[in-house]
Amino acid sequence: MHRIVYSSIASKGTNTPDVFEIVDVSARNNPQRSVTGFLLYDADRFLQMIEGPALALQALLEDLEADPRHHSIEVLHRSATDERWFPDWEMKQLISFSAEPALEQLRHTLATKPGGAEIFAIVDDFLRE
Ligand SMILES: Cc1cc2nc3c(=O)[nH]c(=O)nc-3n(C[C@H](O)[C@H](O)[C@H](O)COP(=O)(O)O)c2cc1C
Repeated sequence: MHRIVYSSIASKGTNTPDVFEIVDVSARNNPQRSVTGFLLYDADRFLQMIEGPALALQALLEDLEADPRHHSIEVLHRSATDERWFPDWEMKQLISFSAEPALEQLRHTLATKPGGAEIFAIVDDFLRE
């Protein structure tokens, strides 16, 4: 099992309805791929954490590289893990950042996992920019 966090830039014309579609497709595909995680979107940028079997993540990354709705993918974190942190999030969408229960759950989970602090810092950076 691996965990990857990447950021990317939303392409011109990519907007909230596209993101709903992405999350819909993810909810359909990710259980088959045994992938879970979350997706942050702020109108210009994405930050996504994906966790699952290494081969499944590699296949997803190849799909992501080919997706015209974003570009400039930059992998910020990659690690091996024996624990899935977000077993219930087939792809949790986090669009509005303040007072969002899912964001609180995200913070809580990352605060309690070994190695979670590093990913928390990446999320925090993303939210602050
Ligand atoms: C920022 C971003 C995140 C995405 N995350 C996922 C994902 O977690 N799972 C997924 O299946 N597709 C995701 N996609 C969509 C894929 O790039 C691709 O369009 C999709 O997997 C194709 O699925 P299909 O072959 O079932 O149509 C994402 C796209 C973008 C732009």
